[in-house]
Amino acid sequence: MNAPASPAAADALPRHFLGLEDVSAATINRILEEATRFRHLVEQPDKKTDTLKGRTVINLFFESSTRTRTSFELAGKRLSADVININASASATQKGETWMDTVRTLEAMTPDALVIRHAESGAPHLAARALTSHCSVINAGDGAHEHPTQALLDILTIQLHKGPIEGLRVAIVGDTAHSRVARSQIHALHTMGADEVRLIGPKTLIPAAAEEALGVRVFHDADAGLEGVDVIIMLRMQMERIRGAAVPSQREYFRLYGLDRRRVGRAADDVLVMHPGPMNRGVEIASEVADGPYSVILPQVTNGLAIRMAVLKLLAGGESA
Ligand code: CP
Repeated sequence: MNAPASPAAADALPRHFLGLEDVSAATINRILEEATRFRHLVEQPDKKTDTLKGRTVINLFFESSTRTRTSFELAGKRLSADVININASASATQKGETWMDTVRTLEAMTPDALVIRHAESGAPHLAARALTSHCSVINAGDGAHEHPTQALLDILTIQLHKGPIEGLRVAIVGDTAHSRVARSQIHALHTMGADEVRLIGPKTLIPAAAEEALGVRVFHDADAGLEGVDVIIMLRMQMERIRGAAVPSQREYFRLYGLDRRRVGRAADDVLVMHPGPMNRGVEIASEVADGPYSVILPQVTNGLAIRMAVLKLLAGGESA
């Protein structure tokens, strides 16, 4: 029989932060507690701490990003780390170097954390396996696989507005088939005890056998799926990942699945409306809703900074396994 893990070992973060599928509620709560402390800090006039003084964080983005790249950069700087940003379009990959050689080259400069976004699912996992130093890899979004820090900032946002996740009914609307965000959100919502996770969208944009594989309820009728939910998470139509005509037209998609004021009225009276961004106004969400009283889309961005500070502190600060 295995000896029971000590409380410290049970709470230790993994060395790499690659996804939420196998991450425990205790680990998620640890990150959320740190983030809650940093959430207060971002509202102070002096927003910096010395937490990561002397540590180095490299942001390596092989795919475009506004929110994730900027917030990881700002998070590292607020923690006083040395932060380097590398955009693949301006790196040696343009001269024929493989992305893995770029990763190994950067590792040779002894960073403490490498934050990687890549269009291929599993790329950060390959990088983590290839590293030989103490450096931690943090997944900033890999293909259609996972985007763990996005899901955690969403959980933090829900908790700050609604309290515990337990008992909540959450609808994720749109292109879940191509969404790394949805995959990480589903794992996190289940781990944190959500009562029900609903996926709403056309058959072409919902993963095959989602109900059995992901433990969700699938609705192809948006009005029925939104009935009584506490949280609505709208997803971007991932045009760059969709092959073939998954929807007849953007106008028809909005008619069937777009979130307007009338559809918000199907949900609970105190519903939260969320979107990870970037948003396509008029495609998946109407401006009257995106900018309306139920929307927490901009607080999600602020909470993302706190979550990324927490993850960097715990991993680059040497508090992982
Ligand atoms: N939500 C998100 O990942 O946005 P960016 O692509 O701008 O980072």
